[in-house]
Amino acid sequence: MARYAHVTGWGMAVPELVLTNADLALMVDTTDEWIVDRTGIRERRLADKHDTTASLALQAAQRALERSEVRPRDVDLIIVATSTPEHLFPATACLVQDRLGARTAGAFDLSAACSGFIYAVNMAAQAIRSGSIDNALVIGAETLSRIVNWDDRSTCILFGDGAGAFLLQAGEKPGGVLSCVMRSDGSGGDLLSVPAGGSRIPTSLETVRRKLHGIQMNGREVFRFATRVMASATQEAVQAAGLKLDDIELVVPHQANLRIIEAAARGLRLPLNRFVINIERYGNTSTASIPIAVTEAAEAGRVHPGDHLVLVGFGAGLTWGAMVLQWVTPERPVPARRRRLSALWSTVARLRSGLRRLARWLEGLLWGAASAGKEPDESRPSPKTEDRR
Ligand code: ACO
Repeated sequence: MARYAHVTGWGMAVPELVLTNADLALMVDTTDEWIVDRTGIRERRLADKHDTTASLALQAAQRALERSEVRPRDVDLIIVATSTPEHLFPATACLVQDRLGARTAGAFDLSAACSGFIYAVNMAAQAIRSGSIDNALVIGAETLSRIVNWDDRSTCILFGDGAGAFLLQAGEKPGGVLSCVMRSDGSGGDLLSVPAGGSRIPTSLETVRRKLHGIQMNGREVFRFATRVMASATQEAVQAAGLKLDDIELVVPHQANLRIIEAAARGLRLPLNRFVINIERYGNTSTASIPIAVTEAAEAGRVHPGDHLVLVGFGAGLTWGAMVLQWVTPERPVPARRRRLSALWSTVARLRSGLRRLARWLEGLLWGAASAGKEPDESRPSPKTEDRR
């Protein structure tokens, strides 16, 4: 029997702190008028000291689960698409898995910059359709404010923080993820990058002094690339789903620049009211922008069962991609009882995590005590015995 991968839960989380264009004008040489005119952005949310990529991801994931009625322990896979993971490792997805109490889930991060959410939904949908898993949480989460160069007026005005999540579930009813195109062009990698902090240019006083840990971008080139690929990727995905552009009720583009979205609409000859646009309130939240926009559109009653949606994005790499989804789940208010249950699961997950840490510590103590009583194994070469030879 054919299996389909349906979006049955969605959720978002943004920090409370709002940074307006007027606030930015006090920090760098810019104006509200310039930013609105060139980008469409009026304000963005910024993580405060309590918000992290994992904490925002967790809140969005919990909301997606509450909506879908899937319990954390029934989640088989968690993918966090992010350009601002909490660490090089462990994966942010593992932090979310622990805090969620998703005991039997595999978890990993996916790095494809702003296209990451589309890539990750496609990976999860493939795993569901193949029959290897039933439930997957896909999260796009960012704290870009932590890697923005706040002295660079050409980039610091663009980005914001937030997270969005989908719960994908196996189903027999036709629909869900119908097609996806994923593309990349590494020859444009230098157009948008965070140069240092990886293995090629490790962190040093010099890299910090030269601000090589912040976002660097050739805005004009990225703009040209984005306007080129948004329309073509959409057309490819629609064709691959066996549909026509007229069949698409809603396009949800990556929110990077209103002018890029307008150019895509012109290229596709679609009216702008078929696009979900919320860039004025959040700026570019990278991997989080598409699931945040879908969540807001669903909550505003713009998405109905049976509708065909295109999700389309681009980003560093360079990467780009588009996906056609057929929506199946009606928007309903989440009952208060389910929210209370979710809070309870979250407390249980914290307790369980604490107990596991305690058990690991005790195990270490016992193991240490046991091995302290043993004679050293002379047959094994140690650095010291090597030296003596
Ligand atoms: N305020 C005032 N003036 C500014 C500002 C600012 N914030 N930023 C740049 N300028 C100036 C420039 O210095 C330049 O001045 P000059 O002509 O004297 O040299 C002038 O404005 C025009 O600069 P441009 O770079 O040509 O401006 P443009 O219209 O291209 O807009 C922008 C710049 C908004 C960055 C645009 O190029 C853009 O949006 N590019 C795409 C960026 C993008 O989408 N990135 C995200 C990719 S997704 C991901 O993976 C993270």
